[in-house]
Amino acid sequence: MSLKKPDNKIIAWIKIAVFLLALIPVLNLGISAYIDNLGANPIEKLTRSTGFWTLTLLLISLTVSPLRRLTGWNWLMRLRRMLGLFVFFYASLHFLTYLLLDQFFAWASIVNDIVKRPYITVGFPAFMLLIPLAVTSNNRMIKLLGGKRWLLLHRLVYLCAVGGVVHYWWLVKKDLSNPLTFALLLSLLLGFRLIYWLRGLNIPLIPRKGWQP
Ligand code: HEM
Repeated sequence: MSLKKPDNKIIAWIKIAVFLLALIPVLNLGISAYIDNLGANPIEKLTRSTGFWTLTLLLISLTVSPLRRLTGWNWLMRLRRMLGLFVFFYASLHFLTYLLLDQFFAWASIVNDIVKRPYITVGFPAFMLLIPLAVTSNNRMIKLLGGKRWLLLHRLVYLCAVGGVVHYWWLVKKDLSNPLTFALLLSLLLGFRLIYWLRGLNIPLIPRKGWQP
């Protein structure tokens, strides 16, 4: 089997495997909730776990395109939409845990959090940015918007990822190692894109002698 051009059957199996893998965290939480094994603070456990998986899947989905460029495995792009929808799924669970279990629709307290707690101030718009991306993730919307506009809109995912990392960084009180790891990985992924973009514009990273824009 060639990994460069696997046949459609293999890709279908890979998609099923990725789908099942992405379901593991939510199934794990569901089972833990059912057997009452979420620990001393179940709401905190649910919020933290769904937040962690939102950011992890977001970075995984941002890895697809650089990995495709490095390996030439174009079929990887066929996993991107599913991964993106899983990001939205976990982000919605994260937000709903906060809205329903943590705050129970206490709108005044929610507005207060958005204004007063910096990590919520960035987390909230980061979540909001995911909504237009999820709504326009189907072929009909790509056609309706046109490829260029659709691509431009979906660049919002970079802002959302930066917002997610800042949100994590600001909420951690002591050990910064996890948010730092996410920040480094995101810088790598965005840096890779920057290099490709500059190459496309024919702008060298280190200006050569005689180079003109
Ligand atoms: C309306 C939007 C959001 C709200 C209200 C929210 C709220 C929260 C809260 C209350 C916590 C737990 C804080 C603590 O226990 O001290 C948390 C953790 C977290 N959130 Fe969010 N969040 C939002 C959006 C997001 C988004 C969009 C992402 C990712 C892109 C994200 C990623 C995380 C991560 C990684 C954690 C920490 C997980 C861990 O401790 O391992 N959040 N969030």
